[in-house]
Amino acid sequence: MGRKFLIALGGAMLTLSMAACSGGGAGSSGDKSGEKPSDLTIGVSMPTQTSERWIADGNAVKSKLEAKGYKVDLQYAGDDIPTQSQQVDQMITQGADVLVIAAIDGTALNSQLQAAAAAKIPVISYDRLIRGSKDVDFYVSFDNYKVGVAQGTALLVGLGLLNKDGSKGTAKGPLNVELFAGSLDDNNTQYFYGGAMDTLKPFIDDGTLVVKSKQTTPEQIATLRWQQETAQKRMENLLTSSYNDGSKVDGVLSPYDGISRGIITALQNAGYGSGAKKLPVVTGQDAEIASIKLINDGVQGSTIFKDTRLLADQAVNAAEAFLQKKQPQANDTKTYDNGVKVVPAYLLPFATVYKDDIKATLIDSGYWTAEEVAAGQAKK
Ligand code: BGC
Repeated sequence: MGRKFLIALGGAMLTLSMAACSGGGAGSSGDKSGEKPSDLTIGVSMPTQTSERWIADGNAVKSKLEAKGYKVDLQYAGDDIPTQSQQVDQMITQGADVLVIAAIDGTALNSQLQAAAAAKIPVISYDRLIRGSKDVDFYVSFDNYKVGVAQGTALLVGLGLLNKDGSKGTAKGPLNVELFAGSLDDNNTQYFYGGAMDTLKPFIDDGTLVVKSKQTTPEQIATLRWQQETAQKRMENLLTSSYNDGSKVDGVLSPYDGISRGIITALQNAGYGSGAKKLPVVTGQDAEIASIKLINDGVQGSTIFKDTRLLADQAVNAAEAFLQKKQPQANDTKTYDNGVKVVPAYLLPFATVYKDDIKATLIDSGYWTAEEVAAGQAKK
C-alpha cells in the first residue's frame, strides 16, 4: 500500500469528492472578524494523555490561542471513542466558534461534524485526518508518507544496509526483521506503513531482509490504539513462535516510541541486550523523552521528531483564518482524501533523530533539555 496505491485511491476519490462538494459549504463560518478574541471560543479535542506528544500538542495549541486572547476549551478523551464524541458534542452545544480535533478513530465523528457544519463551525483536523465526512474544512499535519519512508530508511541505516547519505552500506543480509504498524482506525497508519513498506520491500524481495513470522500485512502487524502493552505482547509472541530455533531478530520497524518501548521490553525480557545477544535496531516516532534517553543510551535506534510547537502554530493560523472568513493557507491540496473529499492541508517537515542528532535537533531547539535527556523524564 505505497504511494502508487494511495495515488490510485486518491484519483478515484477525487471524482467522488467533486460530486460531493458541488453542494458547497465547507468552511462556511459565520463572519467573526468583527468580534473580539475574548468573545470567541476554540474547542480543542485531543485523543489521550497517555502519550506525551498529545499533552504537548494540547498545551501548545491552548497557550498560543490564549496568548492571542481567545478562550479555549481543551479536552482529552482518554482514548475512548464515546468520550470524544460526547466532548465534541458539548463543545458544539456550548457555542464553540472553531473546532480543532485530533480524532481517536478517524471515522467515528461523522454526526458531530454534521452538527458542526449545521452550526457553521469550521472543523480543523489536527494531525489525524477525519474520514468519511465532507465537513472537515482543513488539515494540519506532517508529511505522513515521508515519515514512513524515514522510518524504513532508519531501519536500513541502523542495520548498516544504507548509510545516512543514502549510499549502500557495508552490511550483508540475510537479516531478520519484524514489522509493527499503528492503530488501523488512525488514518496516518496507512501512510506510515505505505512509506516504510515501499522502502523495505526491495530488500525483502531480494532476501536481504527476512520477516520470519511472515506477518507483513497492516492487519497482521497493527497495534490497536498504539498501545505499548499490546506491542510488548505481540513481540513476546513473535519471539516464542518464530525465534525459538536459536535465530535472532536484527531489526524491528516500529511506528511510535511507545510501541518501540514495548518491543524493547519484550526483547530485554528474552535476554536481548545482555551478553552476546545484541538488541535489534528499533525505530520510533515522536521523540518522547523516555525514548530519547534510550536512543542516547544506545538501546533504541532512532525516532522521528515532529515539532508539535510548529503544528500548533499552523492550527492557530487556520483557526484565525476561519474566524476572519478566509481560507487558511494550504501547501497540499492533493494527498489527503478522506473518502468524501480531498481536504486542503498544511504539512510540516520533520527530522529523523539518531543518537548523534539529539543535541542539534532536540536540545539546541529547546524541545528537551540535556538534563531531561539524561533523566529520561520531562521536567514540566
Ligand atoms: C501521530 C503520531 C503518533 C501516533 C500515536 C499518530 O496519529 O501522527 O505522531 O505517534 O498517532 O499517538
